[in-house]
Amino acid sequence: GNPLPVDFGDLPPGRLRTVDWHGRSVWLLRRSADDIAALAGYESELTDPASEHSLQPAACRNAHRSLRPELFVAIGQCTHQGCPPALRSGAGNRGEFLCPCHTSKFDLAGRVFRMGPAPANLVIPEYRLEGDSRVVIG
Ligand code: FES
Repeated sequence: GNPLPVDFGDLPPGRLRTVDWHGRSVWLLRRSADDIAALAGYESELTDPASEHSLQPAACRNAHRSLRPELFVAIGQCTHQGCPPALRSGAGNRGEFLCPCHTSKFDLAGRVFRMGPAPANLVIPEYRLEGDSRVVIG
């Protein structure tokens, strides 16, 4: 479908913006420096830590699963049965997305933890950056 431009210049760290892109929910999350640092060190808890069996553009197959470390873009649907995971963060805890349906859990790069039924990391759509504060999805 048609590419969708989304401005994120006003998006504060730790906040999630959800946009509709051809009937799918696409998330934009601005990760803080702490969020980015926290993405290392627990790979053994993850199903696919290097995203070898998950869906993302080739340019996003990296440690933060994004084109730019501070901006996370993903399809907001659990890879088990499609429920929308909810962001939980703050209070000194590592941020995560928790699926309300069968408790699959994803980190702030959308990488799935082994503990739940979801088989793969959250899907990253094709997107590109335009300047410092705009992303074009699709
Ligand atoms: Fe998310 Fe089942 S739909 S865990």
